[in-house]
Amino acid sequence: MHMGEELVPIWKQSKILHKGAEAVVISGYWMGAKAVLKIRNPRSYRHPDLDRRLTRQRLSVEVRVLKKLHSSELSCPSLLDADLDKGWILLSHIEGETLYDSLASGRSGFEEIRKLGKLIRQMHNLGLSHGDLTTHNIMINDSNSLFLIDFGLSKIAPEIEQLGLDLQVLNECLNASHHEFEDAIDVLVDGYLSFSDTFSPSGKEVIERFNSIRGRVRYHA
Ligand SMILES: Nc1ncnc2c1ncn2[C@@H]1O[C@H](COP(=O)(O)OP(=O)(O)O)[C@@H](O)[C@H]1O
Ligand SMILES: [Mg+2]
Repeated sequence: MHMGEELVPIWKQSKILHKGAEAVVISGYWMGAKAVLKIRNPRSYRHPDLDRRLTRQRLSVEVRVLKKLHSSELSCPSLLDADLDKGWILLSHIEGETLYDSLASGRSGFEEIRKLGKLIRQMHNLGLSHGDLTTHNIMINDSNSLFLIDFGLSKIAPEIEQLGLDLQVLNECLNASHHEFEDAIDVLVDGYLSFSDTFSPSGKEVIERFNSIRGRVRYHA
């Protein structure tokens, strides 16, 4: 089936990259350039009106954040086109793999984890939390550059708690899926603190909050 060709002008599908609970991600060509189409699919178990609202909301957050990031130095896809009513966005294609796969295969290791820490602080330093920071939402290309993707749960002007939670989500992901990299979180924190801050809360303050979140989680476990 050729998905999206009836929805998106000048789009030619090549293959389905990912079929999640909420979105289908398809690679293809847009005006001759390699691109990625993300279509939010309606969830049948929800009321259609609520469904349309949630779909629109996540996509519109993603659009807003990618537009904000466009003028920054942060590595992420660029937004090529979008139609929120029809439920799709079109992104530049990142040639590479997820950090999940790269760590699992041993192609990435502590060096990339440290770089990731710095990249996360660079995002936080722009006044942005990610909201779903797992290694499936981080990509690495052939020249070993890291990219952040999937900004549907981001917050512009987040509370310090949301910044700390980004690190905790990643900490849990590293423990659950990448436990062969022992104490990876310490390396990540080290990278996080290596970025030169211009934003309040500072990197140090966010790490303090992250440590208290970690403590709370441990206490309740
Ligand atoms: N710009 C992109 N370039 C290449 N692959 C991508 C791109 N965006 C997403 N992907 C692939 O599709 C997967 C799902 O995309 P994502 O935006 O995380 O959707 P979801 O909201 O369903 O998690 C990613 O884990 C990645 O493998
Ligand atoms: Mg994702």
